[in-house]
Amino acid sequence: MARKFTTLFHVIDPRVFQRQLLDELCALATRVRAIAKTPPGARFLQNLAPDRRAMLYFTQPSTRTFLSFNNACHILGMRTSEIRDPSTSSEVKGESFEDAIRTFSSYVDVIIMRSRHPGRAALAANLMDSIARPVPVINGGSGSDQHPTQALLDIYTLDRSFSEHGGIDGKVIGMMGDLRRGRTVRSLCMLMQNYRDVRLVFVAPDQYAMQDDIKAFLASHNIPYVETADLPGALPELDAIYVTRMQSEWDQAGESRKVDAARFSIGIEEMKLLKPEGIVMHPLPRGPEIDPAVDTDPRAMYWRQERNGMWMRVAVLLKIFKLEIRVREVELGAFTV
Ligand code: CP
Repeated sequence: MARKFTTLFHVIDPRVFQRQLLDELCALATRVRAIAKTPPGARFLQNLAPDRRAMLYFTQPSTRTFLSFNNACHILGMRTSEIRDPSTSSEVKGESFEDAIRTFSSYVDVIIMRSRHPGRAALAANLMDSIARPVPVINGGSGSDQHPTQALLDIYTLDRSFSEHGGIDGKVIGMMGDLRRGRTVRSLCMLMQNYRDVRLVFVAPDQYAMQDDIKAFLASHNIPYVETADLPGALPELDAIYVTRMQSEWDQAGESRKVDAARFSIGIEEMKLLKPEGIVMHPLPRGPEIDPAVDTDPRAMYWRQERNGMWMRVAVLLKIFKLEIRVREVELGAFTV
């Protein structure tokens, strides 16, 4: 009997991602990147979705999420439109957010969006669910609340990094920095419900500790966590340390600058405390919290993590458009040299 794959439409809430879907997305991303290595493979991928169009509606700054989605679309032969500067949208003439989203949906097959407002992508998805021709909405980051595709690429990076060390199950994962205002760590915590015996260590200044709603989520899913401000004390037991920057764009009056950043930073000395097979991740962009001297350490995973993002986003698009079967069925040998 043919295996039944999971399906995906909107990508809004990390809590809907279950283990089978995560495993399928990781496997799909790996298969796609292998196919893309040769010119015939790249051409095969480009012929998968030339009839599909995407809207990239990014009204909050982005480098990685925008570029990786844009290139993920192009890898599949899709065409893209974009609004990045809100002053070029008819919203400045008073058009409502809802009408803008509905308008995009008239022209494209998927809306990929980033907004500084929490809940905006969810609002767009709800609107789509109420109209006759809904298109999927992908949240590329909304306010300080969620960044689900970042969490997917983080899972992919963890999965690849630990592929020869038992996978993500049983790992001790540190998250450091501005955990209160960082959306990436919030989404990643929610995906941890899918892995057995994972323990989390939150390393943050008191005033930037993880929010209570995430702690309640972890408690309700029996995911143990501890909180500390002692990085050197925490590092030796970690399998991964996920570093984040101070989210100073949310400051009221420059309060981020009052944090003793050196206590929440990774440099050559801190790397000496990390396990030989431990990894350092960061969603990027980085500030002073990772010394560039760490970049050449094989345990520094953030540049690979960034590239993994593009392949994971290809996998997400394939899943949404129900094209993964074409990738699964193709003989990999046809594309290897
Ligand atoms: N990680 C991430 O979301 O980066 P950008 O803000 O550059 O998209």
